[in-house]
Amino acid sequence: MSKIDFLKTFIKDRDVASVTPTSQHCVKKVCSNIDFSKDMILVEYGPGDGVFSRYLLEKMTPGSKLILIELNKDFYVHLKETLQDPRVEIFNVRAGDVESFLNPDYIGRVDYVLSGIPFSFLDKPRKKIVLEATKSILREGGLFLAYQTSGHLKKPVMEVFGNFETDFVPLNLPPYFVYKVYKNAV
Ligand SMILES: C[S@@+](CC[C@H](N)C(=O)[O-])C[C@H]1O[C@@H](n2cnc3c(N)ncnc32)[C@H](O)[C@@H]1O
Repeated sequence: MSKIDFLKTFIKDRDVASVTPTSQHCVKKVCSNIDFSKDMILVEYGPGDGVFSRYLLEKMTPGSKLILIELNKDFYVHLKETLQDPRVEIFNVRAGDVESFLNPDYIGRVDYVLSGIPFSFLDKPRKKIVLEATKSILREGGLFLAYQTSGHLKKPVMEVFGNFETDFVPLNLPPYFVYKVYKNAV
């Protein structure tokens, strides 16, 4: 998808929350937290035009699975058309509803949840629903990675997961805070 088409999607839908796809610098920085040497199940919330998804598919093993949860219909159709890979499943649903759509065999077995959805647009109960669903699908020791425009996720993440680290990535429009959160960190 061109940058102009991405911008047009943003203009039509405030939930897109960004005028341009994430920079390659930021994609690599966020994904440096992922161990690509092993088969994995990774769920991505808000893939947009697939800037992370394409990078993930290049690096993932043939036995890995990538599940994309995208609310915006235009992005969903674009992803369906452009990511024709047997490792990928794509759903046009809200992140908070992930448990109802995910293969039941994957619940509690997901290694990574990567999220670009604008949590700051969600009210407090909805934030909690998304975080609780995320915790429920992750395996013990699984990792939740979220790139966000501010530090507002610290409190809700602490309430649900009890831990977080953040990193700041200034070389992106907008600059992002990257949250790194473990399920049942030891
Ligand atoms: C900031 S954009 C990030 C897009 C892309 N991942 C990137 O890095 O360029 C946020 C994305 O989250 C999607 N989104 C927003 N709310 C969502 C929700 N509740 N569930 C799933 N996707 C959502 C938007 O449609 C958009 O694709």
